[in-house]
Amino acid sequence: MKIIMLGAPGAGKGTQAKKIAEKYSIPHISTGDIFRANIKNGTELGKKAKTYMDQGLLVPDELVVDLVVDRVKQDDCSNGYVLDGFPRTIPQAEALDKALAAMGEAMDYAINVEVPDENIVRRMSGRRACVDCGATYHIVYAPTNEENICDNCHGELILREDDKPETVQKRLNVYHEQTQPLIDYYTEKNILVEVDGTVDIDEVFAAIVNVLGA
Ligand code: AP5
Ligand code: MG
Repeated sequence: MKIIMLGAPGAGKGTQAKKIAEKYSIPHISTGDIFRANIKNGTELGKKAKTYMDQGLLVPDELVVDLVVDRVKQDDCSNGYVLDGFPRTIPQAEALDKALAAMGEAMDYAINVEVPDENIVRRMSGRRACVDCGATYHIVYAPTNEENICDNCHGELILREDDKPETVQKRLNVYHEQTQPLIDYYTEKNILVEVDGTVDIDEVFAAIVNVLGA
């Protein structure tokens, strides 16, 4: 099963992708997480990506397309995968389709998690991310067992640099301009699934499982 998660920043793509990956035993491939790991490790890619990410802008397509295409060719992707944060522009979607077509494959679902802009800023200010493993929590909606300590690896939790309200607004603008057109793109391909992302995390997941099958 090959799945794309679509949705505004903070819609819950990462939260749902993690649950999908666990339930269906497929890898969760988050381009945001890959960039953040590169930034943490001080790689050249990380240095380039950081200048865009901190401003709430998209990293240029050429820095992300090959990275994802190479990743989905790895052995652990043979039964499918869930892409979180990619594609984010029409050229990225076209490049992905072209690469898959060359392998005789195609995506199965593009799941759009719908959350209105007004809910997003509130959600982001409460999000906390682990500095070590990248796990994501929310101080109200998805709290950790111990305050500010990751349940997964006991790392320290931080507010992401790009989750400050002024940067979130910029990311939302970028989303509407560059990423939202993908909804029409995947509608035309007949693989778009819309789910309401404003309800509880488990309710959103139940709606997704309803589509993907138990
Ligand atoms: P990325 O890391 O992908 O960020 P994003 O798309 O802005 O999305 P987020 O991770 O902020 O939100 P999410 O939808 O995953 O929500 P989450 O599950 O955490 O990308 C970061 C940057 O990297 C980009 O700005 C860009 O610069 C660059 N980049 C990445 N990919 C790129 C690409 N392909 N091309 C170019 N540049 C790229 O949930 C949010 C919060 O809400 C959490 O605290 C969560 O606990 C909570 N929550 C989730 N669901 C619910 C619910 N149902 N009810 C209540 N709370 C909820
Ligand atoms: Mg995410």
